[in-house]
Amino acid sequence: MWVYEKKLMYPVRVSKCDPQMAKYLMEQYGGADGELAAALRYLNQRYTIPDKVVGLLTDIGTEEFAHLEMIATMVYKLTKDATPEQLKAAGLGDHYVEHDRALMYSNASGVPWTAAYIQAKGDPIADLYEDIAAEEKARATYQWLIDMTDDVDLIDGLTFLREREVVHSQRFREAVELIKEDRDTKKIF
Ligand SMILES: [Fe+2]
Repeated sequence: MWVYEKKLMYPVRVSKCDPQMAKYLMEQYGGADGELAAALRYLNQRYTIPDKVVGLLTDIGTEEFAHLEMIATMVYKLTKDATPEQLKAAGLGDHYVEHDRALMYSNASGVPWTAAYIQAKGDPIADLYEDIAAEEKARATYQWLIDMTDDVDLIDGLTFLREREVVHSQRFREAVELIKEDRDTKKIF
């Protein structure tokens, strides 16, 4: 069960209307290494992973939804004042025709999100390595997004999100060590 706190995890500010940047940010909304994929990947893996790391997957999977909310807010703020002409010039003409300014779970190229982006192998080491790779790819994507803008307010929010991916990666690495220790402990009955 979740309890919803009606505030963003970290304040989202943008300093200008920038539909082109909004289009790029959709990669972290519905892309392969985006926040939706992360949240669903971790929360789904919890049901078969050893008890020791269930809490970690719940914590991080839940936080990814908070990040998804931040990305949605960024996209909204970057597009809310854009004219249809500006959206079209930013490559969002197709999106406007289909959805106006509503978000959809698709990547920066408009490809819909798919469960094929995520994995659950049922082997804790395999699953945790997948999770570490996902965090590193998300971190890299945030860096590429930061490189695409000079909006200092937007960069502030993206930097926060990039740093959270670093923390998540470290916590998943610790979880791998925990599982390996358990596996390597000789059991004497
Ligand atoms: Fe993450």
